[in-house]
Amino acid sequence: MRQSLVVGNWKMNGTRASTAALAQSIITGLGANSAGCAVCVPYIFLASVGEIIKGSGLALGAQNVANQPSGAYTGEISASMLNEFGCQYVLVGHSERRSYYGDTNASVAERFCQAQTQNITPILCIGETLEQREQDQTFAVVNEQLDAVINLAGIDALNSAVLAYEPVWAIGTGKTASDEQAQEVHQHIRQYIAAKNQTIADKIQILYGGSAKPDNAKGLFAMPDIDGGLIGGASLDADSFLKIYHSI
Ligand code: 13P
Repeated sequence: MRQSLVVGNWKMNGTRASTAALAQSIITGLGANSAGCAVCVPYIFLASVGEIIKGSGLALGAQNVANQPSGAYTGEISASMLNEFGCQYVLVGHSERRSYYGDTNASVAERFCQAQTQNITPILCIGETLEQREQDQTFAVVNEQLDAVINLAGIDALNSAVLAYEPVWAIGTGKTASDEQAQEVHQHIRQYIAAKNQTIADKIQILYGGSAKPDNAKGLFAMPDIDGGLIGGASLDADSFLKIYHSI
């Protein structure tokens, strides 16, 4: 049985005060049952949110990490810096990073490896655009995104990683993948990994992301290969996020 995981991605939202209040509301709402829940916070609020959630079961995550360990990389944040601030997770390869900031399959693979050097669990985001889906390229696209990481890090690196399938056309659009559409790709991803290593395929958590909301989360999470969610917009409201978490 895979442990489920629900992760909030706050993206570039909030103030110091509002993110503190949001974190506080989430840990209050979680109470003692906080296993498998994390929030990926803007870099600048990692310290303040980290202080608030310390000692609760809510895990801290970042939204990206540099592809280099240290040095002259202005504006970047290294995995060791994230480690120092208590990050347990980091997103790599989010589609917004890939499309607006030029993160490539190659640099995403390097970021993935950097996270693991600091024992931070990378959450590798993969998924196709609408155009790619319409051209029947969904499986080929996610295979290529996975291969870039597997070729650099090795298949065993997936022992300490999480995958997130986020169809680009569903992110922030209100257009969720249907339960069946999401399950079809999750199953494909698991089979693709199983062909390389069955044990890892059985164990790895594959999250769904893209307009997940309290009213559609239950159906998505009931699918056999969907182990949780990566939640954007709905994670900015503690009640919605907690409802999604509790629907698993
Ligand atoms: P939304 O839930 O706002 O569609 O965002 C999904 C996402 O990008 C999570 O990483």
